[in-house]
Amino acid sequence: MKLSGKTAIVTGGGSGIGRAAAIRFASEGACVTVADVDTVTGEGTVSLILESGGKAIYVKTDVSDSKQMKELINKTTENFGGLHIMFNNAGIGNTEVRSVDLSEEEWDRVVDINLKGVFLGIKYAVPELMKSGGGAIINTSSLLGLKGQKYVSAYNASKAGVVVLTQNAALEYGKYNIRVNAIAPGVINTKIIDNWKQNERKWPIISRANALGRIGTPDEVANAVLFLASDEASYITGATLSVDGGGLTF
Ligand SMILES: NC(=O)c1ccc[n+]([C@@H]2O[C@H](COP(=O)([O-])OP(=O)(O)OC[C@H]3O[C@@H](n4cnc5c(N)ncnc54)[C@H](O)[C@@H]3O)[C@@H](O)[C@H]2O)c1
Repeated sequence: MKLSGKTAIVTGGGSGIGRAAAIRFASEGACVTVADVDTVTGEGTVSLILESGGKAIYVKTDVSDSKQMKELINKTTENFGGLHIMFNNAGIGNTEVRSVDLSEEEWDRVVDINLKGVFLGIKYAVPELMKSGGGAIINTSSLLGLKGQKYVSAYNASKAGVVVLTQNAALEYGKYNIRVNAIAPGVINTKIIDNWKQNERKWPIISRANALGRIGTPDEVANAVLFLASDEASYITGATLSVDGGGLTF
């Protein structure tokens, strides 16, 4: 088991990539805190882990809220006695409109969840990771954090911010044996892309716009997250790993 004796937090753990990673972490022996705004799906992930013999708790959390993020870390260390892995993964898309038509409120909400949420995850996890003698932080960026696309300005900017914030934290905490990396998924089959799937004209193009010619699964992303969380990635920090079927090169 790659994570036995470790404790991990997964934000956005109720669905998609977060759920797959939470289940994968638990199957490798980690105690997992599933954090999500959605209680039904968050508790659903915990049930799946418990049913297969793993250890997990759910903590209702809005990642953009500082108090709730602090509480998330506290509840995790109270329950499991420490923290070793922080997967800052919760995120939302923006309504697909030109920048001039995007409301300031929506810009703020997307940046608060996708970028400030990662900042808060780093801010409150690092002291606990230090107490554990080190650990791993993985942040979810996106293919759209590495290249611009029309009509997703807030998402583009927030996910690009995650890439450099990841490098910043890697530099600040490397000496404490804390590795900080990001993943940049391409088009992955989760709820977040439901609106794309319904677009009969665009979906055949979007779904094949990569070297492999298909969309990815949450499990394929979870495998990459597990690698970055594990000791197998002991000399990798500050990196952004594309998990996009070759979408960036396409
Ligand atoms: N699916 C893709 O194609 C794709 C591609 C690139 C990046 N991503 C990123 O992957 C991450 C996970 O998304 P997904 O694809 O699994 O989608 P998803 O919608 O299935 O999962 C996102 C989860 O985040 C939760 N969430 C939303 N706002 C939250 C908040 N404020 N606090 C806590 N939890 C919150 C949702 O309830 C949901 O469970 C996101 O950061 C997303 O931007 C997804």
